[in-house]
Amino acid sequence: MSALTKVFTDEIRKIEETHWAEMVSKPYRLTHHLMPPCGWLNDPNGLSWYQGRYHVFFQYSPFEVKGGLKFWGHYSSEDLINWTYEGVSLYPDSPADCHGVYSGSALAEEETLHLFYTGNVKLDGDYDYINNGRCANTLHVESKDGIEFGIKENVIPCTQYPEDYTCHIRDPKVWKEGDRYRMVLGGRRKDDHGAVLLYSSRDLKQWNLDGELTTEEKFGYMWECPDMFELSGNEILSVSPQGVEREEYRYQNIYLSGYFILRDGKVFKEDFREWDMGFDFYAPQTFVDKKGRRILIGWMGMPDAEEEYVNNTLEEGWQHCLTVPRELKYCNGKVYQYPVEELMNLRRWKKKLCDADRETETDGAFDLELQVQKGPAKVVLADIFKLEYRDGILVLEMDQQAGAGRRTRKACIEELRSIRILADTSAAEIYVNEGEVVFSVRFYGKGTKHRLKIEAEGFRGGIWKLEKMSITRCL
Ligand code: FRU
Repeated sequence: MSALTKVFTDEIRKIEETHWAEMVSKPYRLTHHLMPPCGWLNDPNGLSWYQGRYHVFFQYSPFEVKGGLKFWGHYSSEDLINWTYEGVSLYPDSPADCHGVYSGSALAEEETLHLFYTGNVKLDGDYDYINNGRCANTLHVESKDGIEFGIKENVIPCTQYPEDYTCHIRDPKVWKEGDRYRMVLGGRRKDDHGAVLLYSSRDLKQWNLDGELTTEEKFGYMWECPDMFELSGNEILSVSPQGVEREEYRYQNIYLSGYFILRDGKVFKEDFREWDMGFDFYAPQTFVDKKGRRILIGWMGMPDAEEEYVNNTLEEGWQHCLTVPRELKYCNGKVYQYPVEELMNLRRWKKKLCDADRETETDGAFDLELQVQKGPAKVVLADIFKLEYRDGILVLEMDQQAGAGRRTRKACIEELRSIRILADTSAAEIYVNEGEVVFSVRFYGKGTKHRLKIEAEGFRGGIWKLEKMSITRCL
């Protein structure tokens, strides 16, 4: 271990030690969402299932609650509900990643867990200017036990990217296809188009550039955190574009995340579909587990959030969380997302809901499922939010205070059949029509008890109290 790594390790241990016990009593800490032990969290990284355990790494700034120098934090689990915090796995401690261990992915082979990530290096010049100011290397590192990682190899140094790209190239996602390995990298071209670069390799060390994928008509200036995978015979490209103009019913956030289903190997702007219509969702990544499920986890936060929004957890010394793991399914030209079935193990039955029983009181985290007949419907969680469906439009409206400056998000759907709300202490994931449309949102209510009111014709459903996931810390 280098002297610098030792300093980081000791300092992070100390700060996590101080916060771990004290965090438990903070009112906005979550019960079934993964959070940073302290400080800041952003993108999920290195999602994988390796030798009997799930691994969830994440962008982590333990020292700065508003984000700063990036490390990879690490959780692992056998069942997606009992988690172990494994500590920090990757440190910005080499010349190729000294200003941040940025986002990347995992490739799980029988005997080795490989990680690929972007090593961020700031150069003289304007750091955010499109042509200079940073160098983004693609690094590779291996582990046998999934916990300790070995020597960092710079497999694509920043000098080797194509000429017509700016210095904004990052977030490698690697997978195996036949006897080749493939990689996608997100980027910003010099003509200011967002795009992804496609690479392949036979040995994970030598990478050849095979081409790029982008829309003919510009769709944002930068595509971050790409992912490419097959679902029911469809080729899917997921990206997080920046610079797409806001509209009333879509693209409502400053930055977006969504997917294209490829047609003849190409992507078309009009095919882009957002993963999530809420305020807090970005940079998702997917992986396949032992059961062959394609699972997605997103960052439940937003970079450069609108100015008026101040996340109330800042006062508690932490910011942001990940979404619950969502299983992906393809149906009629769309990808549906639904919480993995393991989360049902956290349910404790509370009560049946039907026409005669339109009101109930919630306390803390809950899971609500409603089947509705066609027509208008309204679900109100008093002092937190209201979800209303009318004439093909779904509107999520936050309470002024609980929304902390955020008010409305909208989505279009042809009909409303069902609503599922997974509500945590300060986060909610709302799944409409079994995940045809999803809204993810953070909120900050007063107290834990809220009235839940349902207005709809002939609805049926139930509500469960949700137990806390267990998170232990590996010392
Ligand atoms: C997306 C992102 C990535 C980058 C990482 C740095 O939120 O900007 O492109 O690798 O965050 O934390």
